[in-house]
Amino acid sequence: MQQDADEYFRVWNPEQADPNHQEKPEELEQRKAAQDALSIQYYNLVTSIFQKSGRMCGHLCRLSPNEPMAQSLVRHEHYLAHRVNIQEGEKILDVGCGIGNPARSIARFTGANITGLNINAQQLRQARQLTQEAGLGYQVNFVEQNFLRMEDFAAETFDGAYAIESTCYAPDLVEVYSEIFRVLKPGARFGVYEALLTDKYDEANPVHREVKTNIERGGGLARIHTSAEAIAAMKAVGFEILAIDDLGARPDQIPWETQLSDPTLEKQGWLSFALLSVFFAARASPLVNRGLQAVVGKLEQLTLFPAGSQKVVDLVVTILDGMYRGGALGIFSPMFLIVARKPEA
Ligand SMILES: C[S@@+](CC[C@H](N)C(=O)[O-])C[C@H]1O[C@@H](n2cnc3c(N)ncnc32)[C@H](O)[C@@H]1O
Repeated sequence: MQQDADEYFRVWNPEQADPNHQEKPEELEQRKAAQDALSIQYYNLVTSIFQKSGRMCGHLCRLSPNEPMAQSLVRHEHYLAHRVNIQEGEKILDVGCGIGNPARSIARFTGANITGLNINAQQLRQARQLTQEAGLGYQVNFVEQNFLRMEDFAAETFDGAYAIESTCYAPDLVEVYSEIFRVLKPGARFGVYEALLTDKYDEANPVHREVKTNIERGGGLARIHTSAEAIAAMKAVGFEILAIDDLGARPDQIPWETQLSDPTLEKQGWLSFALLSVFFAARASPLVNRGLQAVVGKLEQLTLFPAGSQKVVDLVVTILDGMYRGGALGIFSPMFLIVARKPEA
């Protein structure tokens, strides 16, 4: 853990994390060149704490009054499968599959055969174990691969593909979308919940810039893309766009970012409630945040917590803050839905 944390903070160093820092072009280039390593280090560091907290383990979702959050998450996955029109028996690619939650739920929902692809070996170990425990090994399989270079797959392999909050980790969206385009059969659909900055983002606004930096540094991203970039990239690689639908901008009774501020949304036991309460309080108050970091730092010194824990806490509070405020301001969406089709040959 310590090595991942040190490496991550060497690239995303505190100086660059300061939103008033005048970024030099070479700093961004250095982060972009390190993006694959940043993604791997980031998910090595945060996957376990996200899982324990019962939130953000994989993706966010829309919320509905009195709907248990576990159900909201699955509903979000099924909705994507519906928009991609995934059918029984089809061969579907899950791009950046995390620990395989969407792959399992979409396999159950549709009857399709899903291949989950991920660059993170640690997450894949868990994905395989959870899939075996779920008895879905015959329908869901996993490969360790970079979505920028899917060497295991020949062109025109899949009947469809989807990605949930993962392609944002491509330094250039054209690269990842074109690799997805290559492995899809002619006529096949691709649906993505892209995590991006909406067109409400204003680079001249210092609060917007701070939120952006927090999403990037707290989220393992070299740089976050904009909705305009995502749409242009889809078109540039040859996809025909069927739908653009920012689900994050829907006037829901409970805004999606509430899952980053309200620990009571889901009754998941005392550990989840305690962790969420502490993290949400630290996000809302710099004083609580400093106190939390100091306590965790002390416990780390006393070897009661693993080395690197303080940095993990810092990342979790930072990403919570970026996404929560980004959602409240309408400048960030983790569910900017684009449905596209590879034209028939
Ligand atoms: C926010 S998580 C989403 C996980 C999953 N889609 C879900 O919804 O549960 C982002 C995922 O993208 C994966 N990822 C990041 N960069 C990648 C790359 N270059 N190639 C493949 N997977 C990548 C991460 O390892 C992580 O599993």
